[in-house]
Amino acid sequence: MESIAVAPTLRSNSNKLNKPNPMKTPNLFLTSLAVAALWFASSSSSPGAEPAGGGGLAELKLAVAVLHSTAGNKCQGTVRFTQDGNAVKVVADLEGLNPGQKHAFHIHQYGDCSAPDAMSAGSHYNPEGHQHGLPDAPSRHAGDLGNVQADNDGKAHYEISVADVTIGGAHNPIIGRGVIVHAKSDDGSQPVGNAGARIACGVIGVANPGEKKP
Ligand code: CU
Ligand code: ZN
Repeated sequence: MESIAVAPTLRSNSNKLNKPNPMKTPNLFLTSLAVAALWFASSSSSPGAEPAGGGGLAELKLAVAVLHSTAGNKCQGTVRFTQDGNAVKVVADLEGLNPGQKHAFHIHQYGDCSAPDAMSAGSHYNPEGHQHGLPDAPSRHAGDLGNVQADNDGKAHYEISVADVTIGGAHNPIIGRGVIVHAKSDDGSQPVGNAGARIACGVIGVANPGEKKP
C-alpha cells in the first residue's frame, strides 16, 4: 500500500530534475528516501520474514558479512555481528590466511568490494574523527577491530565485543559498511596500522535470524 503512495513522489522528483533547477542534492536525497520507504514497505509486507514493528534498521540485532578474497589472494570467511545491549559482539571465522600470522581486521567506511584490491571500501570506519588504534587503545577508529591470529592451517576464529558501534542504531551504525582483512598485522601505528594490502572484503548485511551459526 505504502509503495503505491510513494511511487508518484519518485516520479515527480524525476520530473523536477528536467527543469532548469540546479537543486540536484535535495532531489537525490528525496529519491533515496523514497527508495528507503519502498524497501521498508516491501520488507514489512513479506510474511514472517522479520519481526513486525516497522522499526527497520534501528531494531536489527543480527548482521553478517561474507568475505571474499581479493585478486590474487585466498582469504575468505564469515563475520557475524550481534547487538548485545550497547555493545556489538563480532565473531569471525576465516580461512586462507598466512599460517601462524596475525592479520589486521577492520570495518571500513564503504560496503563496496567492487575493486579487485578492495580499495573501493575506503579507509577505516571513523565517524568520530579519532586516530587509529588497536582495541585496547584509549581512542581509536570505530572500525578498528585489531588482529585475527591464524593457526597452522591458516584458519582463524576471532571474537571481540565493541561498545562504540551499533548494527543499525543512531550511534555509529555499521550496517552496509565493509569488513576488510589485511595481508599484514595492525601494529596500531598512524594512520592505519601499517597493515598492507587487503586480502578479503565483505559487506555487512542483514542476517537471516534462522540461519545456523557455523
Ligand atoms: Cu583495514
Ligand atoms: Zn583504524
